Amino acid sequence: SSVHYYDFVLKEINVTKLCANQTILTVNGLFPGPVIRVHKGDTVFVNVTNQGNYGVTIHWHGVKQPRNPWSDGPVFITQCPIQPGSNFTYQVIFSEEEGTLWWHAHSDWTRSTVHGAIVILPKEGTSFPFPEPDGEEVIVLGSWYTGDLNEEVNEDLEEGVDIPHSSGFLINGELGDFANCSSETTYRWSVDYGKTYLLRIVNAVSDDEIFFAIAEHNLTVVGLDAAYVKPFVTSYIMISPGQTMDVLLTADRPLGHYYMASREFLTENATQDHNNGSAIIEYTGDYNFSSFPIFPHQLPQVLDMKAAMRFTGFIRSLANEDYPVDVPKNITTRMFITVSMGELCENRTNCNITAGSDNILGSTLNNISWLNPTVDVLQAYYRNISGYYTTDFPDRPSVMYNFTEDSDDPDLVMTAQGTRVKVLNYNESVEIVFQGTGLLDGAGVHPMHMHGYSFYVIGMGQGNFDNETDPLTFNLVDPPKANTFIVPKYGWLAIRFVANNPGVWFWHCHFDRHLSWGMDTVFIVKNGDTEETSMLPPPSNMPICTGYPEIFLTGGKND
Ligand code: C2O
Ligand code: CU
Repeated sequence: SSVHYYDFVLKEINVTKLCANQTILTVNGLFPGPVIRVHKGDTVFVNVTNQGNYGVTIHWHGVKQPRNPWSDGPVFITQCPIQPGSNFTYQVIFSEEEGTLWWHAHSDWTRSTVHGAIVILPKEGTSFPFPEPDGEEVIVLGSWYTGDLNEEVNEDLEEGVDIPHSSGFLINGELGDFANCSSETTYRWSVDYGKTYLLRIVNAVSDDEIFFAIAEHNLTVVGLDAAYVKPFVTSYIMISPGQTMDVLLTADRPLGHYYMASREFLTENATQDHNNGSAIIEYTGDYNFSSFPIFPHQLPQVLDMKAAMRFTGFIRSLANEDYPVDVPKNITTRMFITVSMGELCENRTNCNITAGSDNILGSTLNNISWLNPTVDVLQAYYRNISGYYTTDFPDRPSVMYNFTEDSDDPDLVMTAQGTRVKVLNYNESVEIVFQGTGLLDGAGVHPMHMHGYSFYVIGMGQGNFDNETDPLTFNLVDPPKANTFIVPKYGWLAIRFVANNPGVWFWHCHFDRHLSWGMDTVFIVKNGDTEETSMLPPPSNMPICTGYPEIFLTGGKND
């Protein structure tokens, strides 16, 4: 295994899209940002220098970061922002993952332009569990916002009103032929007839599940979230924000050019009407370029829930001698977590219902809307300083109700903000059932994402989770392993993992809207008994929070 060094400079550039000029924050002036390429087992040091106008952090999405939450990145969870004019070096340790992951800003909504792919090749001297492809292509799916997104979002959050949707979908930074003023910059990829390519697809879209397909071509899915899956052939994929998929494509169609296209998958009729994102695959060789490329007609329609769920159901772990699954069986911590929309009570924290609501939107887990502390949870935990969070995130909702019935009942809808974390002992076997709800007409899918771990997806279903019958359907043989997976609309998702990575780990819905509204919580996984099962010490150059009290600055610890 080897060590690599990358320099990431956060800086603004000018771009023109949808006929308008605007400024975006990027890494090294690239959009999408640079690709990090490693072999499994390698370590990467990324020195991030901030030449922008506001504080930023970077997260290495899906990288376990064994014992090293210090480099995980979510703002006010494991670190304070890297302020303009300063820098921070992340140490990214690739221990278990193999395939494709990505990195992105994890502060405000900056991640819509500050993101890039991570390619993790098999350990040196080993190979893929499928024939070596002839080539590789990274496909980053993104969303485009016109105007100053961060400013807009901060105002909307302050006022408690809805946050705008993006104005288009990108493939490798370009909107493509179906958006205004975009066809000259449409992304093009040339392929040779007869060759097989490994597509490394990243869903960096802020707020939408995405259908993706290539005209006239089938796709063979071989990996999800940097874990191999049993290969299956499909004419389209459905990918959640946060997820990454490895897909084989054989260029075996008549010489020509073909569209690849992305389309949002929605769970309710939306008012906005998005264009599809598109790019063009061009075969090398002689053919008539003047005809239009062929469009992927197999791309499901925006409301096609069946197509989304059918695709999701095909995903299974490879589960063979070389890639065994190891689902925990003797569960020591069981949690049942409702995933809902809500309304913040007056003053956001005082839930005296008779006082009424300011009609401020909130999102919740177990009816708690996460509030970021002013000092990161990790420092407060490590230095044992109280007052920044409480350890009372509940294992189940305080009241049981018919979760999947639509309801505006204030007793269920009204919610308070809190910084309430769940503490787990080292090596606990954890099972979580996420239950989607119909509160506030907020039923939809939620791509739940966990930091510091991948989990086994052992079951999903429609309606209220049934404790008696639903566990009988669990797949403990070849469940997919993922870091992000959807809770179905009006349904539930069951996952398992072993808490063998000590640290402070964020958990949230990977829709930026829901993340900002509080559909988040934190797991603190305690140290084990030995040094090898304990958190690493903090690096010396952690960014300083403006709210740090004296004891943090002197490196003090309350034992
Ligand atoms: Cu990809 Cu907490 O995020
Ligand atoms: Cu959500």
